[in-house]
Amino acid sequence: MEEKQLLMIPGPTPCPASVLLAHATPMINHRGPKFVSVLTEVTANLKTVFRTQNDVFILTSSGTGAMETSIVNTLSPGDKVLALSIGNFGNRYAKIARTFGADVEKMDFPLGTAVDVAAVRAKLEADTGKAIKAVLVQFNETSTGVVNPIPAIAAAVHAHGALILVDAVSGLGAIDLDTDGLGLDVVCAGSQKAFMCPPGLAFVSFSARALAAAETAKMPRFYFDAREAKKYLASGQTPWTPAIPQFFGMQQGLRLMLQEGMDKFQARHLRLRNATRAAVKALGLELLVPDDGIASPVITAIRAPEAIGPDAIRKLALNKYGVVFAVGQDALKPTVFRIGHLGYVDDTDVLAALGVLGSVLTELGFPCDPAAGVVAAQQSISQALARV
Ligand SMILES: Cc1ncc(COP(=O)(O)O)c(C=O)c1O
Repeated sequence: MEEKQLLMIPGPTPCPASVLLAHATPMINHRGPKFVSVLTEVTANLKTVFRTQNDVFILTSSGTGAMETSIVNTLSPGDKVLALSIGNFGNRYAKIARTFGADVEKMDFPLGTAVDVAAVRAKLEADTGKAIKAVLVQFNETSTGVVNPIPAIAAAVHAHGALILVDAVSGLGAIDLDTDGLGLDVVCAGSQKAFMCPPGLAFVSFSARALAAAETAKMPRFYFDAREAKKYLASGQTPWTPAIPQFFGMQQGLRLMLQEGMDKFQARHLRLRNATRAAVKALGLELLVPDDGIASPVITAIRAPEAIGPDAIRKLALNKYGVVFAVGQDALKPTVFRIGHLGYVDDTDVLAALGVLGSVLTELGFPCDPAAGVVAAQQSISQALARV
């Protein structure tokens, strides 16, 4: 069937029909009262998901726009920045900061591992002159499927006094992040991830400290100026014409999320992760992230059997079964493929995808029981649901 696909990538995720239909709502005046009510509701519900009382600005952009917003509003050219990278998106954050003239010191950690907090703490403690103005870090590194220990990193950064800017684009909502409890200065998110919406909007929370930094930051900015966003938010508007259909979609996506309840929403992602990991092992494949303690609830990276390679698996899954697995990124491209279990994805989707993975592996000559993955995932899911 030409149009039917099972989208198992870490965004865009599948969208509920009611979210898609909301996008077809007739256009309204973005300077009129109806838009004020939509923006007000979406912002209030975002604050619940972000767990913050800080301002949350909604940008018409992809998640990278939120990352750029966090940099250009808090820093000046020449400012020293510590960028913690555990993969592709960590590299991107460092690159954005460099593009705008920051003096970036990068700490790279091996792919498949989390940030080493002790090393970061030592680096910050050594900065007795307080030259480091901000620390950049991913919450969930999508390229490897690792969740960073944000509470411990935030504690180390606070002890130093720098700002902590968090790219939570792929994790926020699906994995608990207590923005205010952890004192996170800027947190970035995107509509096409946990929010079960199409791409097009990004969200960024600013603490009082980050807003104060925006008053003196000297990096060039126009479209992503947080001062403008704050000024317009006070009257329920955005500075520039917003992607109104995406706002209608987010209104519905957030309603569905909160209706499910954040606890259940996050428990579902954890259950899908555990089922996927159990299946991968049962099929005899190797997880990129063997450590359950840091493994992402939204994306699982898998090493393809050497003789087959990831592309053959992805192509057969797509062309024969309509199941979309994600590519490996950067250095992992030749060896890794990924299964997303993010957003509007449930147990049935994961069981189907893992069944297809078993079939594809067997058809490509990998010696395994094609049903072993489904059986292991089924057991994992049944046990998790029995505990509820
Ligand atoms: C961790 C992370 N950061 C940033 C981004 C960038 O978002 P976008 O592609 O929406 O610009 C992504 C997108 O996949 C991501 O996973």
